[in-house]
Amino acid sequence: MARDFKDKVIVLGVTGSVAAYKACELASRLVEAGAEVIPVLTSGGREFVGAASLEGITGQRAITDMFEPAQNPEIEHIALARRADLFLIAPASANVIAKSAHGLADDWLSTTLLATRAPVLYAPAMNTKMYQHPATQDNIALLKRRGCHFVGPGSGALACGEFGPGRLIDTPAILEAASIALRNDHSLEGKHVLLTSGANHEPIDPVRFIGNRSSGKMGYAIALEALKRGAQVTVITGPCDVAPPFGVTIIQADTAVTMLDAVTDLLPSADIFVAAAAVADYRIENPPTKKQKRDDQPLRLELTPNPDIAAHVGLTRAAHQIAVGFAAETHDFLEHAQRKLQEKQLDLIVANDVSGADSGFGTETSRAWFLTPDEEAEVLPLLAKSELAERLFTRILALPRAAAVCDG
Ligand code: PMT
Repeated sequence: MARDFKDKVIVLGVTGSVAAYKACELASRLVEAGAEVIPVLTSGGREFVGAASLEGITGQRAITDMFEPAQNPEIEHIALARRADLFLIAPASANVIAKSAHGLADDWLSTTLLATRAPVLYAPAMNTKMYQHPATQDNIALLKRRGCHFVGPGSGALACGEFGPGRLIDTPAILEAASIALRNDHSLEGKHVLLTSGANHEPIDPVRFIGNRSSGKMGYAIALEALKRGAQVTVITGPCDVAPPFGVTIIQADTAVTMLDAVTDLLPSADIFVAAAAVADYRIENPPTKKQKRDDQPLRLELTPNPDIAAHVGLTRAAHQIAVGFAAETHDFLEHAQRKLQEKQLDLIVANDVSGADSGFGTETSRAWFLTPDEEAEVLPLLAKSELAERLFTRILALPRAAAVCDG
């Protein structure tokens, strides 16, 4: 995701909320990722966080008032409105949301929000009753209709002692939403991407299981890339180290059978299916309901084959649906992947080398090939999984079947 922020100009609007101090962490993460962050503090924001903190973190002068003697407002705020790649209002108070919705311009931030045509992302933070008030909800709906992005709020205990929606959503979710707003790509607008991700835990008994080393990082990257392209995304996830991104529908399914059930339920509504999960090929038939006691005898397990989810999709999907799989291989990559592509009747398979320390299970990068039924295998360099996901969707959209779907 860091690639998305490099050399971007992000105006960080900080408004009146007790969560304003969290803008410091957000600013720091954006600067670390290579963005130029211009902090803007409203009068409310200044009540909760000092300009000096944000200036120290961003290395930029914090803008606090519309008409400071040292600046020419006409030049500065219009220039920045034009230069910004993203306006990120975090925390976004009910006040700034209301002013933006109704075109008020009584301070630097509200004025510049009117002047800019850059994407605007709001991360609301306020008392639950204020957030749920029809006026606030109407203002949010109005801004969404104008194409503004929103992330959160989260739910939980609030500083005012109430419990419910209104907490500033956590920084990783804001960063994901910012990378989506910055991309401004609509190549999957209105499409539903359904994917499996993560590992399986096939129970041996109530305590033990057979699993694998999938971390869910590849599935996370695929889900985030689909979000960036405007898709509705559903992730059917087994146990994993990396939770799917904010903004997707998550279905937990820890075994191959429960994963298949979830895929079967949701497949009719999907335009693109990606099988990124490391699905267990076998399970223990009828595992005991009590923990097996240790004795000094060998423990023999009777394993039965699991259903092949990707093959089920490949063989039963509708003509407009695109089916993509992965082949986790340690040798003879193309030969094994080609066989799976054909046996599972997929449109594309990503052969990935899972033998190296820098590729496959749990890694940040992957060494992969794209195989389709009627073209030469496309070899890829070692890539970050986020870049592999980006190239995967670009390749998917170039498939003959996609041309019919996405033009249709
Ligand atoms: O999660 P990470 O740590 O980031 O690791 C990513 C990954 C290595 C798990 C991922 O890139 C990957 O390769 N996923 C597929 C792993 C796997 O099960 O590969 P396979 O060659 O055994 O299966 C081939 C395809 O059939 C896969 O799309 C798999 O999801 C699917 N399959 C396999 C068996 C089964 N019973 N049902 C299936 O749907």
